[in-house]
This record gives sequence, structure tokens and C-alpha cells, in this order.
Amino acid sequence: MTEEALLASVDPAGPAPEDGELRQYYFIRKMQEFTQNRERVLGRKMTACVVTFGCQMNARDSEKLSGILSLCGFAMQDKEDVDFVIYNTCTVRDNADQHLYGRLGQYHHLIREDRSRKAAICGCMMQEKTAVEKIRQSYSFVSLIFGTYNLYCFPEYLYRIYHGEKHVIELWDRSDTIAEDMPVRRKFPWKSGINIMFGCDNFCSYCIVPYVRGREKSRDPEDILREVERLAADGVVEVMLLGQNVNSYGKNLDTPVSFAQLLDAVCKVPSIRRVRFMTPHPKDFSEDLIEVIRRNPNAARHIHLPLQSGSDRILRAMNRHYTKEQFLALARHIREEIPDAALTTDIIVGFPGETAADVDETIDVVRKVSFDNAYTFIYSMRSGTPAARMEQVPEEEKKRNFERLLQTVQETARKQTLLLQGKTYPALIEEENDQVKGFVTGRLSNNMIVHMPGDASLIGKFCMVRLDDCRGFYYFGSNLGLA
Ligand code: 5AD
Ligand code: SF4
Repeated sequence: MTEEALLASVDPAGPAPEDGELRQYYFIRKMQEFTQNRERVLGRKMTACVVTFGCQMNARDSEKLSGILSLCGFAMQDKEDVDFVIYNTCTVRDNADQHLYGRLGQYHHLIREDRSRKAAICGCMMQEKTAVEKIRQSYSFVSLIFGTYNLYCFPEYLYRIYHGEKHVIELWDRSDTIAEDMPVRRKFPWKSGINIMFGCDNFCSYCIVPYVRGREKSRDPEDILREVERLAADGVVEVMLLGQNVNSYGKNLDTPVSFAQLLDAVCKVPSIRRVRFMTPHPKDFSEDLIEVIRRNPNAARHIHLPLQSGSDRILRAMNRHYTKEQFLALARHIREEIPDAALTTDIIVGFPGETAADVDETIDVVRKVSFDNAYTFIYSMRSGTPAARMEQVPEEEKKRNFERLLQTVQETARKQTLLLQGKTYPALIEEENDQVKGFVTGRLSNNMIVHMPGDASLIGKFCMVRLDDCRGFYYFGSNLGLA
């Protein structure tokens, strides 16, 4: 059902429906009445802001939060000096947690300036009891806290904090509901993330995600395809299929479907010109998936394949279920089958027990695969995970090894970037360049950034670009016109 139909089907004068999305649409109607009344008093619309930390999944969740707030009658803004702010948190590494505390500290003076302002926090970090406790004690101005499983109940919680409840804290430890019809406000008109699954069952020993996002649940392929078709009709040309481990998509559906089959179907939706996905796990990257990418020119030439470590001993302790040789064989195979695809990766340095010799193994993989780009992280202890109970590596040693790795990663990324010198590709234009006037910034299918002459009218369109001038990890190019 459409938003309008759902809104029309609830009666704000009557009792709230028992459950599900209709109940939430009922509270959206109630909030619409509330914000309209406030607008009359204030002489302006109520304002709201969503602050997002973390990964693409969180970015997509924030589009859902914005959708709800807009439909409730708030005018959305980018800055935090608004009537209502919500922080959508990440907790994958400790610096994400610290980032939130920093922002809350800064926000405090805005509340002192205007006591009618309200703040909320949701997302992964709120699934951790210690973090919630700290916020209750040290940041008591926060009115609303909820987690990852009950995001779709946000309208009801909003209603409650605006109708007498000083604090609402609603934390669930699981949910089987996949709310399909909640409102969404996309940040970009031409591209969109699409959740294909939620949660993760892999339990890599360093990772908090399975504890804060719960067990794997796949959406029905029909629902996903309907969403892609709707987006395409709405002008979206690039989609990114999102999941913590997309290769295990569909295994637990009543009629199992593989990720390769889903990707193939999404690539066939007319007017979708680019399909990305994030993130696959090397342990079950299938031959079928390679074949589907190879066959579909609109499947992005970019495969993000998290390595984490190149040492068999560390990989085992990480519970990754592949060896260095297996990873190398997969990477070689992908390079042979899809030679124009960029291979990027995630690497953790300083996992418990890791020695300089283990890092040498990782560096060896980086050189052999010659990654086009790599996100490198210093291991961060997450309480409740198995790795938190292992013998930790001293900070200085982690830093030393990190620097060595970073140098190698930059070397291979530079080398790979230079290989494209002089070639011509379509780029999807994403924004005006804020450094060079009269230039725009686009992205190639392989995820590389290129700057070229152009203006804002090109945003969301494809241009052919010749890669003239390599600047390390990106290019300045000639704009050869619309593609
Ligand atoms: N410490 C450091 N990096 C981590 N990642 C996940 N958990 C941790 C942790 N505890 C990294 C992994 C993953 C990426 C999203 O974040 O490399 O692929
Ligand atoms: Fe974390 Fe591993 Fe799941 Fe990725 S696959 S979210 S690293 S547990």
C-alpha cells in the first residue's frame, strides 16, 4: 500500500490499531496533528535533523527515520540546531562510540539555549547495555532511546515524548518483523541503498554486529524487486543491495533463492544502469555470482572482498573460515573472469595475538592481489565478543604494524589507479566539485572518483569521461558528453 493509502486507512480519533505498521501510521497521523498545532503557535514548521554514523546500512536506516519525521510534519535540516535531533549510532569500533559522546557534549549547549528542544538516540550502539547506562547517567537530556530491532516503532515513541513522557527507552533484543511499508526519504534522487537482509550469523570473533543486529533475515525477493522497480520509476539509476553478508542471502526463505539469482534479477530491471552490493564474505563467494556479474554489464565492476588478515593462524582465531591461499585463489579467479573489476578490501591490524610475522602475511596478500583500495582498521576491543577475552596486542605495536600495512595498501592502490590512464568510461555524476569551480565529481562503475568539467545539471546523469590526469587515487578527466 502507498503512504497515502495507509494514512487514509487509520482514524486518529479512534483507538490505536493493535500492532504492526498500521499502528505506526496511526501515530504518524497523531504527530501530524501535533506538528500542525505547534506550527500555528511557532509561526513556522517544526524542524528535525538526523545525524548518521557508520555504514551504508545505517545510512539507509536514516532515510527511514527522515521519512517518518517528514511525514509527521517536521521540516528536515542538516544542522543540529533544530526542535528534534536523532543520532543514529554505530558501534563497530570504539572510535564510533567516542564520536557520539563528542557530539552529545557539543549538543548540550543547544538544549540549554532552548529547553523545548528534544534529542533521541537509536541504532547499533543502543543495543549495548553499558552504552545506554552511560547515556542515561551522563546525558539525561536525551528523551528517547531505541535500538535496531524497533526502528519502525519510531512514530509511536515520538508521539510519547511529545505527549508527556520525559524519557522513553525501548530496547528489544530481537524481532522477526520486516516492516515493508514505512515511509522513506531518499538522500539522493538518483541512487538508493536497498536492504536485502538484516543481521549476521557469522560471528567473526572480533565483531559486535551479530550481537547488535541479530540473526540473519532475508527479505522476500518479490518485495526487493518491487522496491527496485518503484525506485526505477522514480528516477533512480543506481542501486546498492545491502546486507552484512550478502552471499548468504535467501538461504532461510521458504523458497530459497541465491544472492546470484537475486542480483541477476535486479540487473534486469529496466533503467537501472548500475547495481552495487555490499558486503560479500569470501568464504561463500560462488562461481554463479562471478558468472552473473560477468554476464551483466550493469553489475558494478567493483567487488569489495573483506580480507581482514592474511595469516592463517589469525584467520582461524577470527573465525573467518578461509585460508590465505583460498582467498588468493578467489581473488585471482575474479581478476581472470572480470578483469575490469576493482577489488577492494577491509583489513584489521592488531587482532589479539597478531605478530609482525602475521602482518607480513597480510602485506603479502595485499601485494599479490594488488587491491585497488583497502579500508584498514586498528583492532578495537568490543565487549561481549570472543576476541575481547583474548590476549591483546600493545597499542604501539598495533600502530607500527598499521603504518607498514597502510604504506603497502597505498602503493597498490596508486599502481591500480594508474593502470586506467587515458581510458574512457561512463561516470555517474554525483556532485559539484567544491574545490574547483566549473567541475563536477563522478564515480566509475569500479567505484573510482573522477573530476571533470560540468555543472549541477549533470548530477544523477552519466557522462563519458576520458581519464587524463592521475592524482594518486583519483583522476581529472575530459567530459566527452552524456552517456
Ligand atoms: N575492530 C576493528 N575493525 C573492525 N571491523 C569490524 N569489527 C572490528 C573491530 N572490532 C571492521 C572489519 C569489517 C569492517 C566493516 O569493520 O574490517 O569488515
Ligand atoms: Fe561482522 Fe563477520 Fe558478520 Fe561482517 S561477516 S558483520 S565482520 S560477524
